[in-house]
Amino acid sequence: MVSFNFKDIVKPSINKIEKYIPGESLSINKEDKISKLSSNESPFKIPRNVITRANNIVLSSNLYPDGDCNQLKNQLAKTFKLKVKNIICGNGSDDVLAVIAQTFSKEGGEVICSEFGFTYYPIIARASGCNVVTAKSEKLKISCNNILKRITKRTRIIFIANPNNPTGTIIYKEELLKFLHKVPQNIIVVLDGAYSEFITDKRYTDGIDLINKFPNIIVTRTFSKIFALAGLRLGWAYSNEKIIELLEKVRGPFNVNTLSQNIGTLILREKEFLRKSIIHNDKWRKILPTEIKKIGLESFESFANFVLIKVDEKKYSKKDIISFLKKKRILVRDLTNYGMKQFFRVSIGSNNDLKKFLRELRNSINKKNA
Ligand SMILES: Cc1ncc(COP(=O)(O)O)c(C=O)c1O
Repeated sequence: MVSFNFKDIVKPSINKIEKYIPGESLSINKEDKISKLSSNESPFKIPRNVITRANNIVLSSNLYPDGDCNQLKNQLAKTFKLKVKNIICGNGSDDVLAVIAQTFSKEGGEVICSEFGFTYYPIIARASGCNVVTAKSEKLKISCNNILKRITKRTRIIFIANPNNPTGTIIYKEELLKFLHKVPQNIIVVLDGAYSEFITDKRYTDGIDLINKFPNIIVTRTFSKIFALAGLRLGWAYSNEKIIELLEKVRGPFNVNTLSQNIGTLILREKEFLRKSIIHNDKWRKILPTEIKKIGLESFESFANFVLIKVDEKKYSKKDIISFLKKKRILVRDLTNYGMKQFFRVSIGSNNDLKKFLRELRNSINKKNA
């Protein structure tokens, strides 16, 4: 038994951290028959030709990867029409987000997060010594005005996911521009675009066109969602070259493994895969809220690869619905630890998984009414 109190020797803000709770998952061998709709992963397996070199790469794992991810950055630059020096890569975008927090935080500083936002932001803010300031949402949507009201002299970073997880709401370019003009340029604004590839609406921007205009923004992206590489852990960010230079100094020396660099480079060229994923997602993000409402629960428009569901606790028990689904081997995301007691979230999985989900959701409600 360790008697020393290690809590006394860490930054005080670390003691306020609540450990990240991922979407529920089952051990890999049991997973085959599970409909895992809890973590916003892609329902599609990556094309075979993308993994042709995987064996050889694993066999040469006695060597370190390219710490600068040159090949991957070149492909990202080509695909997204960027300059290589504007890009940093990471072991998932959560790695890049943590590097940003480490780089720009200061003990006693403040990081602004939105209510009902991604729960990893407060963790990395506190781990790097900052206090977390929460800006109220408006009708589940991130409120740029409320964020502006929370800015003080101590504010270091503002985290915004656009679209937002878990609400699926969006901030259009016009509103974003007005907001960015009002944020002092010594505050870093992180625009987390984890779900941006799903959006085809012209009123939205992923932020690429804004980095020359606003020196203080960093846009983070991931290969875990539309690119279907969640298990490989690959993310990246773009910003002006001065910010990227700083982040490059702080990141781990070999933070992206060789396999992920290689497969990431190849998946970016799979335009048809991307097109198929967008079409599938668009279909279900429209069907799901309508069907869920027919079943008797409240659901909301989403711009990402998941849908938010509200359970009226006077009529139904969310806990019972989620455990009924689990018994049917369907995993969804309870949002209680997001401060959303009445809500849960379902990812846009495969056609079969979603048909099963709707069928069993209806059964869970009928069982209650029987
Ligand atoms: C808004 C948002 N940002 C970042 C991440 C982390 O993604 P990654 O797998 O790239 O670490 C997630 C994951 O669900 C997310 O929802």
